[in-house]
Amino acid sequence: MAESLIFNRESSRDERYRALTPQVKSLFAGETDFIANAANLAALMHEAFGFHWVGFYIVKGEELVLGPFQGPIACTRIAKGRGVCGTAWARAETVLVPNVEEFPGHIACSALSKSELVIPVKHPLHGVMAVLDIDSAQLDDFNDADVSHLSEWVRLLEEASHG
Ligand code: SME
Repeated sequence: MAESLIFNRESSRDERYRALTPQVKSLFAGETDFIANAANLAALMHEAFGFHWVGFYIVKGEELVLGPFQGPIACTRIAKGRGVCGTAWARAETVLVPNVEEFPGHIACSALSKSELVIPVKHPLHGVMAVLDIDSAQLDDFNDADVSHLSEWVRLLEEASHG
């Protein structure tokens, strides 16, 4: 595994996704532990894009419990169906929120969060096992290209962590 990421910090977000996808693959190569891979992926996304908060909540019973992340301290438990994370889990689908103030029931862990993207992480047999939560300090910070590239990285995480 490489010790540091290689990408041009001046390049567009799209170019950074392209440069980093092979590095995401090598980060996961030979490692099947979900927490280890999720922790490295959170670090990579934080370094590459400087998101305000990026990390994982893990399904435990009827709640999501805080997992590996980068950013300020955060809420530790979220009930199914609550907030953006709980909604993405309940629906088993990606939820993109351009303005968190317009999302009913948004959980404000940090007043700095303005827009948010949550992508479910699925287990082949057991359904949603975690969610990737990305919070930006900018309004309307995520577009379809972000959803598509980040969903690909989540797929790589799913595959790596379940053989
Ligand atoms: N914003 C999330 C809660 C988690 S944190 O912001 C880290 C939500 O509404 O689901």
